[in-house]
Amino acid sequence: MESVDVVVIGAGAAGMMCAIEAGKRGRSVLVLDHAAAPGEKIRISGGGRCNFTNIHASPKNFISQNPHFCISALARYTQRDFIALVERYGIAFHEKTLGQLFCDGSARQIIDMLLAEMKRHAVQLRLATSANSIEPTEDGFVLAVGGGRVRCKSLVMASGGKSIPKMGATGFGYEVAAQFGLRVVETRPALVPLTFEARTLERLKPLSGVAVDAQIACGRTSFSEAMLFTHRGVSGPAVLQISSYWREGEEIRIAMLPQTDLFAALRTARVENGRQALQTALAVHLPKKLAQTIADELGLTGQLADMSDKVLRRVEDAVNGWRIKPAGSEGYRTAEVTLGGIDTRELDSKTMEARSVPGLYFIGEVVDVTGWLGGYNFQWAWSSGWCAGQVA
Ligand code: FDA
Repeated sequence: MESVDVVVIGAGAAGMMCAIEAGKRGRSVLVLDHAAAPGEKIRISGGGRCNFTNIHASPKNFISQNPHFCISALARYTQRDFIALVERYGIAFHEKTLGQLFCDGSARQIIDMLLAEMKRHAVQLRLATSANSIEPTEDGFVLAVGGGRVRCKSLVMASGGKSIPKMGATGFGYEVAAQFGLRVVETRPALVPLTFEARTLERLKPLSGVAVDAQIACGRTSFSEAMLFTHRGVSGPAVLQISSYWREGEEIRIAMLPQTDLFAALRTARVENGRQALQTALAVHLPKKLAQTIADELGLTGQLADMSDKVLRRVEDAVNGWRIKPAGSEGYRTAEVTLGGIDTRELDSKTMEARSVPGLYFIGEVVDVTGWLGGYNFQWAWSSGWCAGQVA
């Protein structure tokens, strides 16, 4: 039977980082992935340029039932540590917005960097291979792998969440947790476009493809970023962010001109050019199609001069106080991440080891720690992977 110190299941961001660190310590490490290529999500991330971390990453950018859990890992391996690694490999990068760091070239450079580090530390990578069963032994685990069996002292679950099954996402990490009696926080798609019911979609049909810089709120949480109308509902960074906080049945509040006192602007327009139509006045601030749809929705087709302050207040409210109940989300099919996962109460926050199963580790997205949009999820993968790699 083949025997190694550490088996890592999943050659994604977290698994590769963990394997490198364990390899540095002289451990024999085997990384298994059922996909044909490593780091597939890295490859497609950030529109092919990989938003690999965020300069401002801190525990407040993460969602978990225990918001304190991620503090230790994020402090032990920080965004600056990962940036230093990227710089060592001479990979050029830039800040796009809000502290988000992207490769100038291609996400492929990050994958190549991780593969080079794995090679340097003698990590074995076996692709198109999945573990079928896991058996605990006195001093580790035996895995049924392909046609054979592999014995290991430490087993690291880095198999990711459920998002984008087409790309090889499975619920395997949650099954392994269940096998060992570990609790799992209910999972749901996050960083995902929200959908509207058919009647609303019919009314908003002309807006498909229109984008605005919006502020979107749900409960007490809000994000100010771009929003995009789609043929299913709404998407864009602000919507993806709020989707992680939204629950079925709740309404979201949207301000499409959060920086503008629209009431004052419309009153001025009424004085200066009262003969213009409302949609023309709105089109000074908003995309033309959106201005037209708002005027149509409100049934305000006349000229500004005929509109009272009360009417202008209604317009302001429609633009900056739009309340809508999404029908749902696009689900795991398009979700960037999975909310929930292995209950952090089951894990040691310094090492990611399961408290009740020595030698078993969970890292990356499979854990109940989910970042905002903007490089935070990769930072969690690097940080949690690094921590497990120090001890596995
Ligand atoms: P990840 O999912 O990367 O890796 C898990 C690996 O396990 C996969 O290779 C899979 O094939 C393998 N696996 C699963 N089940 C298995 C089994 N049974 N046997 C063997 N192998 C198995 N984040 C960010 O910070 N910046 C960004 O720019 C983006 N962009 C982005 C775009 C898109 C389209 C998506 C879908 C996601 C992002 N993300 C992101 C999120 C980010 O990709 C994600 O959080 C990390 O990839 C998670 O890393 P993990 O290593 O935990 O899982």
